[in-house]
Amino acid sequence: MKATGNTVLITGGGSGIGRGLAEAFHKLGNQVIIAGRGNKSLDETVNANAGMKSLKVDMTSLSSIKAFSAQVTAEYPSLNAVIHCAGVMIPEDLLNGKNYQSDDDVTVNTNLLGPIRLTEELLPAFRKQPHGTIMTVTSGLAFVPLAMYPTYCATKAGIHSYTQSLRYQLKDTPIQVIELIPPYVATTLTGEFQAKDPNAMPLNEFISETMDILTNQPNATEICVKRVYPLRFAEGEGQDKYQQFLMRFNEMMTAARQHRQ
Ligand SMILES: NC(=O)c1ccc[n+]([C@@H]2O[C@H](COP(=O)([O-])OP(=O)(O)OC[C@H]3O[C@@H](n4cnc5c(N)ncnc54)[C@H](OP(=O)(O)O)[C@@H]3O)[C@@H](O)[C@H]2O)c1
Repeated sequence: MKATGNTVLITGGGSGIGRGLAEAFHKLGNQVIIAGRGNKSLDETVNANAGMKSLKVDMTSLSSIKAFSAQVTAEYPSLNAVIHCAGVMIPEDLLNGKNYQSDDDVTVNTNLLGPIRLTEELLPAFRKQPHGTIMTVTSGLAFVPLAMYPTYCATKAGIHSYTQSLRYQLKDTPIQVIELIPPYVATTLTGEFQAKDPNAMPLNEFISETMDILTNQPNATEICVKRVYPLRFAEGEGQDKYQQFLMRFNEMMTAARQHRQ
């Protein structure tokens, strides 16, 4: 990805990883537009970064995505990059819940259908630009699921797959398709405790290593900081080792969760 000279839309840009990336791209002189459901974090982020802009979108709603896409491409005709950071991560107890009646829909709509729909809505405008970037945001958990978040992990695995198809279909265009694969990072994605968890990668370190990769490896298709390597490459170790890793990882995370409760 070109690190400068872009007009970048970052969904979920009012908090966490999205805000970190928004501020990093803003500092490099890019025009940054952040989007979310319009809570005060968008205003706070824009007020702290002169020249940054914000717009409202609800990624669970097709009509909202359509209206938003029309607005952002009309107001920012130079728009050439999108980073799909908006996401939710909701635990599900498959033995004791009817999760599909509520939270599943939010997770699938926000994390899977949201970026798929927004990508398709923005593509006609991106194709008019001399170069463009579509960055999806998956997770190390797309590669080794954390069983207490089954639908979340499935949506991220789904986006990993979609990203590869999108990259193939766009291979003869000047639009780069990049997948950002974060490890466990200190944000409030699953609650306040996560932002203070000493086991999580500090947000500023994650943003700094990510921006280093983006700047120094402009043709990278996957952005993996070193902390995510064990998850990202677990499957390459072969089926037996992968299964053992999956079990150990889930047992460790379940124990850590019980310890916290
Ligand atoms: N932190 C981690 O450990 C980690 C690891 C791997 C992957 N990721 C991924 O990184 C991305 C950013 O997560 P984060 O950790 O930075 O958490 P976060 O601070 O909670 O960010 C999530 C963002 O998504 C936005 N959002 C949620 N639902 C939305 C909706 N319906 N419409 C529009 N925006 C919506 C939220 O903004 P509003 O509430 O204002 O709408 C929020 O700004 C997510 O896709 C997450 O899956 C995070």
